[in-house]
Amino acid sequence: MRIFLVSNSARGHAIAEALARSPQKPEIIAACTVNDPGMKKIAKEVHVMDIMSMSKVCQLARSVKPDFAFIAPDDPIGAGLVDRLESEGIPCVAPRKHLARIESSKSFARELMKKHKIDASPKFRTFEFTSKDELTHLEIDIRAYLEHELHGHYVVKYDALKGGKGVKLSGEHLLTIDAGARYAMECIEQCGTVVIEEKLIGVEFSLMSFVSGTTVVDMPAVQDHKRAHNGDTGPNTGGMGTYSDAGGSLPFLTEKDLAEASEINRSVAKALMDECVEPFKGILYGGFIAVADGVKVIEYNARFGDPEALNVLPLLETDFVKICQSIIDGTLSPDLVRFGKKATVCKYITPKSYPEHKDEKGQKIILPERFADNVRVYFGDVSEDQNGNILLGGSRSIGIVGIGDNIELAEQAAQGACEKIAGPVHFRADIGTLDSIQKRVDLMHKLRAR
Ligand code: AMP
Ligand code: GLY
Repeated sequence: MRIFLVSNSARGHAIAEALARSPQKPEIIAACTVNDPGMKKIAKEVHVMDIMSMSKVCQLARSVKPDFAFIAPDDPIGAGLVDRLESEGIPCVAPRKHLARIESSKSFARELMKKHKIDASPKFRTFEFTSKDELTHLEIDIRAYLEHELHGHYVVKYDALKGGKGVKLSGEHLLTIDAGARYAMECIEQCGTVVIEEKLIGVEFSLMSFVSGTTVVDMPAVQDHKRAHNGDTGPNTGGMGTYSDAGGSLPFLTEKDLAEASEINRSVAKALMDECVEPFKGILYGGFIAVADGVKVIEYNARFGDPEALNVLPLLETDFVKICQSIIDGTLSPDLVRFGKKATVCKYITPKSYPEHKDEKGQKIILPERFADNVRVYFGDVSEDQNGNILLGGSRSIGIVGIGDNIELAEQAAQGACEKIAGPVHFRADIGTLDSIQKRVDLMHKLRAR
């Protein structure tokens, strides 16, 4: 059994580790963006390369002759790597380009849900460039929509992949109607379309599912923390850390909230099948927000979350390789998937100046000889030099995951391990703490009581 894995972060390390635990003992050949010390320990070969160079990745895959490929990051999936590999006869766990539009195009995702009557979107409108002469009218329409329909509480979304940086919110990044209209016009000039939607108030969470066509099997729900600093302050990042609870739900969700999110993932998989006339095969990631009267969709991704994968994959007790095979051949079923009933807390170690600067790039960090048994360590944007030193890149460095019977114990394990890492690094001490979780529970109580 040979698997070709394309990876750019700690998520890929967690995927490799879960694949390697399979009784099928697969040989993993990895294409990575850095000389990842974690991947090196697991994979038979690690090829450091530009994973966006389709021809180079395909050439490598052809020489590997894998049973299947697993593509972890969004950019190569969005650019159509799966289409290329499948045309060479290599089946993939990841969707083809037109199915991946559920992530790569915000307007596709919203319009798909609207067309298929999936009532989970905030109030929204897609504005499209028609002709140069119409630009002034478009700006007038946008201004009117922001002011009179959304009453100044809006979100403007760039309609293509932009590393999580294309979304701007009123009251945070855009302080006036003028600023909102200007950013919307900038989006239109750059990619032809913009999505503008109502700004929702609530608590966000992710529900990822294994998907093969219309068969959808959920993983435990996870909550991510996007802001760089404690107390959800500072600039947005790719995700500073996450937690999941032993029962598969989260402390601020009702049973009905989770069931609704699960149903929405099912409906979206079915809508994709109807719309694209072929099955989505891979991981569908629903980004949700719990609001006063249920849940709404913030976004969809067509891959594992990073760090969400780091929470769920260490808990997977069944054969991950078999799950991948069943996704490909259409035999996925719930009995192939079982997660351990444990809580997890993941805290990302990042360079000190992340995400604004890359000042620490190339500097050394020192890890303890060993970590506690209930801690997992997943390497992201770090590389190993010839002397075995671990050097920082510019992005998120190492995902540290604590596992315990409850969130409190998992948090203590993650926090203790993070404190042992020496170097010019940063992490969020508040992720998964009782205090931080209580704030979310209180907010949901307040919203539901209104
Ligand atoms: P996205 O890339 O669509 O996930 O958006 C990035 C971040 O913007 C999300 O994680 C949310 O925090 C925020 N966001 C996006 N859409 C909305 C919305 N309609 N209401 C409130 N916040 C939003
Ligand atoms: N953790 C957010 C993401 O993977 O998109």
